[in-house]
Amino acid sequence: MEAKITLLPGDGIGPEIVVEAKKVLTAVAAKFNHTFDMPAYIYGGAAIDELGDPLPEETLAACLNSQGVLMGAVGGPKWDDPTAAVRPEQGLLRLRQALGVFANLRPVKVFDALADASPLKPERVKGVDILFVRELIGGIYFGTPQGRSEGAHGREGFNTMRYNEMEIRRVLQVAFDLARKRRGKVTSVDKANVLATSRVWREVAHEVAAENPDVQYEDILVDAMAMYLINRPADFDVVVTGNLFGDILSDEASMITGSLGMLPSAALGAAGSVGLYEPIHGSAPDIAGQGIANPLATILSAAMLLRSSLYLDAEAAAVETAVAQVLAAGHRTSDIARPGDKPVTCAAMGDLVAAAL
Ligand code: IPM
Ligand code: MG
Repeated sequence: MEAKITLLPGDGIGPEIVVEAKKVLTAVAAKFNHTFDMPAYIYGGAAIDELGDPLPEETLAACLNSQGVLMGAVGGPKWDDPTAAVRPEQGLLRLRQALGVFANLRPVKVFDALADASPLKPERVKGVDILFVRELIGGIYFGTPQGRSEGAHGREGFNTMRYNEMEIRRVLQVAFDLARKRRGKVTSVDKANVLATSRVWREVAHEVAAENPDVQYEDILVDAMAMYLINRPADFDVVVTGNLFGDILSDEASMITGSLGMLPSAALGAAGSVGLYEPIHGSAPDIAGQGIANPLATILSAAMLLRSSLYLDAEAAAVETAVAQVLAAGHRTSDIARPGDKPVTCAAMGDLVAAAL
């Protein structure tokens, strides 16, 4: 196969971890006889500095003109001024919207070799295998009007939370289709006791559930869900929710595994659209440039790209197996190191996974 994969290293540790994922993809290409063209484009804070725009036209064009996009991370203290007109995160939201990737898949699974990394008791963590499906291009992150004004009581900021039936239906359908291939259960999370958007969400969710009777369905309020993720995380299979709740709950859920640096994600749109793959962790500016970041979430995101955008199931599984083997052999970057471990560098971890392939 010949495929073009656009790389967006971005900010902070982004460039370091994307280079390692590229190394692994190069090893996959060699082993399975593919040709991957993997050009990198400027993006995020780096692109603001150079061109005044976090998502320059040429970068977006390259993304649209590829089979998949692999991203590192965006943002950092340098661009965090709350009064700044342009922010790196805007580039990410615009990219998601331009690609039309409405369903963000965030698997939360505990690697056997890392079971002891969780801050939760082992018996709670045993068997946890959750797939979050976060709606990604709607809700309060995109609703208009949004902005700021001056009022009688001083400065005011406002956002609009809005969801329509089409947006709810398509992401719910993705959740049901995925659940069918897993343990057959969908949990929809909302705040229907307070929010009008959530009441429409729940209504439509029930209609989609009725159309998919072979899949078990339940609704849970978001505040209760925050609690259940800690006290009974193994009860959930596919969890589908809106943009804001999904952002928050997926970070919370990542801590069940104890290793944020391990979790990949895939953002997918309608058939034929270009998928966007990224680790769920941020740009970690505190450790950027030191060569100690954990590249595994990005490498596992590359595996998701192989599976969901290039339909290379065996290749994706090979990468996942290689990661599991490297961990089982005891290799750890500093974020997942145990007392007494001698942590490996970001580059060494990439080499180990490529070699295990
Ligand atoms: C995420 C991040 C982003 C989001 C930020 C960087 C805009 O937190 O992917 O979860 O809120 O979607
Ligand atoms: Mg987030």
